[in-house]
Amino acid sequence: MKPVLVLLVSTAWTLTAAQYYYQGLMDYLENRLLAIEDRMQFWHDQSHRYHTELQDFKKLTAETADGLRNEYGSMFKDLEGAAVRVDRVEREMDYVEIQTSPRACANKADKVVEQGVWGLEESRGEEEDDWEELHSRVSDCVEIISGIRSVKILKRAGGPKGMWSRDPRSSRVYVFNGTSGDVIYQFNSVQDFSRSPGVAGSTQIRLPFAWSGAGSAVYDGYLYYVQQEADTDLQVVKYDLMSGVVTDIAMFPVDSRACVYSLNPETVADLAADDEGLWLLFATSDSEPNINLAKMDPATLDIEQIWDTRCPRENAEAAFVVCGTVYVVYNTRLVSRSRIQCVFDVNDIVISEEAPLLYFPRRYGAHASLKYNPEEKQLYGWDDGYQIIYRVTMKRKLLV
Ligand SMILES: *[C@@H]1O[C@H](CO)[C@@H](O)[C@H](O)[C@H]1NC(C)=O
Repeated sequence: MKPVLVLLVSTAWTLTAAQYYYQGLMDYLENRLLAIEDRMQFWHDQSHRYHTELQDFKKLTAETADGLRNEYGSMFKDLEGAAVRVDRVEREMDYVEIQTSPRACANKADKVVEQGVWGLEESRGEEEDDWEELHSRVSDCVEIISGIRSVKILKRAGGPKGMWSRDPRSSRVYVFNGTSGDVIYQFNSVQDFSRSPGVAGSTQIRLPFAWSGAGSAVYDGYLYYVQQEADTDLQVVKYDLMSGVVTDIAMFPVDSRACVYSLNPETVADLAADDEGLWLLFATSDSEPNINLAKMDPATLDIEQIWDTRCPRENAEAAFVVCGTVYVVYNTRLVSRSRIQCVFDVNDIVISEEAPLLYFPRRYGAHASLKYNPEEKQLYGWDDGYQIIYRVTMKRKLLV
């Protein structure tokens, strides 16, 4: 009976042990399941969150797209505004360019007159004082251009390049068609010229020596013009329009290939005549970067003084002299707007702050020449065969 009891006891023990074992296993599995459930819940929550976020994002994108559509409209308006302002920026950039580049008029005038080449060396010693006297005040007038007030397109006569001018004293008009020749056309008045077709009705004047370039000047019944044959020195010719004779010729030692404005290479040198005298704008050689200015005695064609204007020849199309101040007009090879971008005052009175940056009214062409008439305060321009008159406004120079 005893072994049976032992067996029973041991069986009971074994059963209890097995029960414990299974209970443990169940507990373990239950925990695992709970953990898995937790995880599933977690992933479920996650995916729900993602879904919600995606929804929000979609909503946001739709709203942004709407906003963008609205902004496009206002941006388009802004762009239109910007286009208007580009023009202003262009001007401002030009202005900055001028401010940062060395200004001719901001510097003391360079005197090159002492150079022996000009044949003045021998007289230098004893006339030193006279020269100083001359340097101190070359021009007595006190006006500076402050604006271009109006433009008048008179007519179209002749080729793309040429020059026309009115003698302030006789009121007669002279037309130089093309860039060289020995014939000029004379009209009794601007009105006569504007009324006649082409050069019909004019008096033809045949000159004894041919003119070269659009650099002539007419003043008080005299014609001053530049003559240059191939490989010879430049000559300034003074021609009496009344009697029809050459009264004087002066030689200028400059390179035959040099031209004063890079955009109008046919203009070898440019003359300007006014109350103050006769001015010649020139370049000594093609390697010379700047425009030089000479003051001449209109009666004898003697050279009185020479300056380096520090105004570059590059991209210059024309220049003119008003009151002892040279105004150089610039453009670009792809024609844009002509502008006065460099100013040189022989008396150093016009200072850089005062010197104007002036734009010519927008046109399609480029100036072949610009001639200033001091009595009328007008510029006579030749633009692609059109004869144009610009009226300018003046103000007093700041006398310091
Ligand atoms: C003016 O010059 C152009 C060439 O530049 C020429 O074709 C034209 O015939 C000339 N006109 C007159 C009137 O001389």
